[in-house]
Amino acid sequence: MKILLTGAGGMLGKALAPCLEDRGHTVIGLPREELDVTNYQQVMDILTAAGPDLVIHAAAYTRVDQAESEPDLAYLINGYGTENIALVCAKLDRPMLYVSTDYVFDGEQNRPYTPWERCRPLSIYGKSKLAGEKAVQRHLKRFFVVRTSWLYGPHGRNFVNTILDISRQRKPIRVVSDQIGTPTCTLSLSECIADLIASERWGVYHATDGGVTTWYEFAREILRGTNIEVEPIATKDFPRPATRPKYSVLDKTTLIHTIGREVTPWEESLRGYLELMATSQPV
Ligand SMILES: NC(=O)c1ccc[n+]([C@@H]2O[C@H](COP(=O)([O-])OP(=O)(O)OC[C@H]3O[C@@H](n4cnc5c(N)ncnc54)[C@H](OP(=O)(O)O)[C@@H]3O)[C@@H](O)[C@H]2O)c1
Repeated sequence: MKILLTGAGGMLGKALAPCLEDRGHTVIGLPREELDVTNYQQVMDILTAAGPDLVIHAAAYTRVDQAESEPDLAYLINGYGTENIALVCAKLDRPMLYVSTDYVFDGEQNRPYTPWERCRPLSIYGKSKLAGEKAVQRHLKRFFVVRTSWLYGPHGRNFVNTILDISRQRKPIRVVSDQIGTPTCTLSLSECIADLIASERWGVYHATDGGVTTWYEFAREILRGTNIEVEPIATKDFPRPATRPKYSVLDKTTLIHTIGREVTPWEESLRGYLELMATSQPV
């Protein structure tokens, strides 16, 4: 396929492009400087000229806390920007894959969220991403909405790198132990997305690594094999502008049936990532 990828300069975009190319796809990866999704005319011109078989929309406003103080910008990029892509895909009769988030859920239920569960985002970021989901579903019949969670990967600032940085500075490490979810490596998510698009079974999917943990346990696993201590703290003792769901594990049954394989356990993905980091210079 010829795949046009938005947000190609982002953490997921940079992992997705080589993964799709390895599967034999031609990827037109466009960073923000080459395609601003909030510019409808630019979206129309570039997608029309490129004539992709599929658009993967990985561009987003992702600053979860900052979104609380600049909601208009978050909605502009995640809501209106996504609607621009969906409208043009509809006009060109091309399918689209939209990457979304576990933050569309409120975290009040204590069992994994299925793709058809009621969305009730707690933050501006979550609300703006849900606005994007709705735009995709409003305009297109052939779409994937892929919700994922707690992303980290080789090409961006993320929790794993932050914990490693703090540990090198010998500063105390305090991490919340009452938010439950699943860390997901962009490398394994990219493989899931590549498998999913091959299925052409359109719809809403949950795609994360396997298993369940807390941010605290995640930090401990990152530092496994060292003698560096991690102190568990409660969310209420670490106030942040945006409220996070306290439980946001996603049920991946539909994905697993569709791609015909299990997902990678989060500990295994983390080990692979740490080995990769140890042997290569992150870009
Ligand atoms: N990171 C996570 O933990 C997480 C969890 C769940 C879901 N997701 C979703 O996964 C997707 C990928 O996230 P990520 O972690 O790769 O985020 P990221 O590293 O912030 O990448 C997003 C990219 O979108 C670009 N962008 C922002 N505004 C744009 C615009 N108007 N037009 C075009 N591009 C624009 C950003 O460019 P600038 O850097 O120049 O702003 C950035 O390169 C997003 O849809 C996100 O909502 C992420």
